[in-house]
Amino acid sequence: MRNDNREWDEIRKMEMRVGVLKNANGSSFVRMGKTFGVAAVYGPKSLYPKFLQNFDRAILRCFYSMTPFSVMDRKRPGPDRRSTEISKVIKESLYPAVFLENFSRTSIDIFVHIEQADAGTRCVGINAASLALADAGIPMRDLVTACACGVIDGNIALDLTGDEEKITDCDLALACMPRNKQISLLQMDGNIESELVNNIIKMLLNGCDKIYEKQKEALKHKYEVNE
Ligand code: CDP
Repeated sequence: MRNDNREWDEIRKMEMRVGVLKNANGSSFVRMGKTFGVAAVYGPKSLYPKFLQNFDRAILRCFYSMTPFSVMDRKRPGPDRRSTEISKVIKESLYPAVFLENFSRTSIDIFVHIEQADAGTRCVGINAASLALADAGIPMRDLVTACACGVIDGNIALDLTGDEEKITDCDLALACMPRNKQISLLQMDGNIESELVNNIIKMLLNGCDKIYEKQKEALKHKYEVNE
């Protein structure tokens, strides 16, 4: 058992909602344990200056940020190396899912804002961003779903908390389109035994299936409420 009494392959408690922001084209709130944040999508909209436009597809842009009070040590506001990296990986994990070719010369902007961080913010960001894209009605091949895991005392531990992240041998994040298990992000810090890799990926894909169900529930709920 883990220090929050979860099984090794258990995801933290999740909460997901869509349509949480009035002025965005699509938006979502996602919580995984004590990590939570919102995503907002603006677009597709005409892109200026014109030289940035792509004549055969939309440009996808992602901006990840964390509030200064989201972590124990105050985080300096504004972009830094880490937020630039996470913005890039969120964008790249979503890229294969979106029918960008339907919206030439436009941009689709995604803002991910983490309000409280207790590990796994990039995964919360990806899960929230893909929900916000769907909420905006942007056609996608599938939702994109992400989770991370580590290795603690030889056990593969799914969806690490902040305390677990301090003692894990590695931190491996995966994003995929769950319907056909196409992986769009695989990223790792630390070291792992090569024999563990297959089991880790299997556990991450199973974790993604559970998150995917929750994402679909959040999208369906919006229409049940509005009926
Ligand atoms: O958040 P994620 O696990 O995707 O990325 P990370 O760069 O590995 O960050 C791990 C965790 O460190 C974050 O989720 C935060 O809980 C914490 N962190 C922090 O305490 N102060 C920062 N300035 C950045 C991250």
